[in-house]
Amino acid sequence: MGDIVEDETSFYSNAEDYWKEVPPTVDGMLGGYGSISNIDINGSKAFLKKFIREGEGKTGSGCALDCGAGIGRITKRLLLPLFQTVDLVDVTKEFLDKARSYLGEDGKRVENYFCCGLQDFVPETGRYDVIWIQWVIGHLTDDHLVDFLRRCQKGLRPNGLVIIKDNVSYEGIVPDEVDSSVCRDLEIVRRLVGRAGLRIIHEEQQMNFPKEIYQVHMLALR
Ligand SMILES: C[S@@+](CC[C@H](N)C(=O)[O-])C[C@H]1O[C@@H](n2cnc3c(N)ncnc32)[C@H](O)[C@@H]1O
Repeated sequence: MGDIVEDETSFYSNAEDYWKEVPPTVDGMLGGYGSISNIDINGSKAFLKKFIREGEGKTGSGCALDCGAGIGRITKRLLLPLFQTVDLVDVTKEFLDKARSYLGEDGKRVENYFCCGLQDFVPETGRYDVIWIQWVIGHLTDDHLVDFLRRCQKGLRPNGLVIIKDNVSYEGIVPDEVDSSVCRDLEIVRRLVGRAGLRIIHEEQQMNFPKEIYQVHMLALR
């Protein structure tokens, strides 16, 4: 990826500049595809519910972390209904400010709003049952993604899970100059996950998305 991201500093600052101009709405979070939010959340719920139930070896439902949370679209409809408390982390302050009203009454169960780039964020050790990372890994360089995933692993409670849900390209790395991100193919994502020392527990493709957008895959890791 080194030859695609020539200048790491502007890779990050261009992304920050891009997101600052995006309206703090569901449509803004999804690049104009607000209409797929329901399908997305329902697919995530079905995926996550396979792991969080009572009994031995099951993932707990105490605390979740929403990474690149934006206004809290996922926190509101997926994480707050399933977990006692949720933390949000995002680099765009305006989105986190919006989240406070967007999340409504249930937002009282949000414990922390961290305004921070994931490349710099250190999850508290042993705090989270689930760390949800959706539609944001393309904003991290390979090395930063690997290091972030390592820190996430340390942030998990026993039986905790890191979930990546993101676009995958057909082949190779596809840069997006507009929002200053990249889209990686599934094999590259798997390799980076492996480099971070995480194991893929389960993997699924999100179905029923529009044909013209990238395929979206969910990976459960620990
Ligand atoms: C496509 S939106 C997805 C938002 C949310 N995950 C969702 O699915 O509704 C990407 C989000 O990533 C955030 N973001 C971009 N670069 C980031 C970085 N380096 N660290 C943390 N968040 C970042 C943006 O501010 C934006 O909220």
